[in-house]
Amino acid sequence: MKIFVTAAELRTYVAAARGAGQRLGLVPTMGALHTGHLALVRTALAATDAVVATVFVNPTQFNNPDDFRLYPRVPDADAALLESAGCTALFAPAPEEMYPAPTVLRFDFGPLERVMEGAHRPGHFNGVATVVSKLLHLAQPHQAFFGQKDWQQLAVVRQLVADLSFDVEIVGCPTVRESDGLALSSRNRRLTPEGRAVAPLLYQVLQTAAARLAQGAAPAAVQAQALATLSDNPRFTAEYVEVADALTLQPLAAYASGQPAVICLAAHLDGVRLIDNVVVGG
Ligand code: PAF
Repeated sequence: MKIFVTAAELRTYVAAARGAGQRLGLVPTMGALHTGHLALVRTALAATDAVVATVFVNPTQFNNPDDFRLYPRVPDADAALLESAGCTALFAPAPEEMYPAPTVLRFDFGPLERVMEGAHRPGHFNGVATVVSKLLHLAQPHQAFFGQKDWQQLAVVRQLVADLSFDVEIVGCPTVRESDGLALSSRNRRLTPEGRAVAPLLYQVLQTAAARLAQGAAPAAVQAQALATLSDNPRFTAEYVEVADALTLQPLAAYASGQPAVICLAAHLDGVRLIDNVVVGG
């Protein structure tokens, strides 16, 4: 596996690969890799000729300095995992490489980012869109692979690519879960053993909510019950539970059977912020 730390090295590699007629896949990550990331790499390897994974803890998408400071960083382990997964190249730039000067451009995704993560993490999607744009320009992939655990991020990236006519196909990949249902996340490694033991409640709450919605319960009632279940456990502090249209992400006042909806939540557990979602219908 080739390892690049400068944009110039990556551009040279990409130009040669594209010149040789290779189809390129991009798997952008912030490192602290887990099986979910490796599933993205495997999917990308099956679909393209060469896969560039990126590991960059993007400072501009963190609205909480502690979250940025505490975000796990294990570069050597990440490189070893990517190598063993058969990844073709790793781009692991320093912040100064990605941001030689502070950015001035600001993204506004309108209603898509006025809800959920966008509403609770001001500036988050501006940072995501900035770094994803830079990575797409540098890596020029034919396809880029993102996990569905970050459902709203996926919607924002699709909007970004459509609005700015990036010549890339965005591929959403299913959330990978532990056997007890906990969605894999780099942040899980910050959980205490006690926190880890109760963490599967998040997915249980989502599954119950999805079943109730499919049975005809009103979105507001589904949301209220999910929030009540989380508040019954003192380890959790729920930030939001939303029942939304799966594409527009706008909250649903009513649910028609078969309609594509997504139930998303964010909660703090032992000071670690976790998100998850399930899709219903569609
Ligand atoms: O999902 C992530 O890990 C990050 O938001 C991404 C897409 C790599 C951008 O920094």
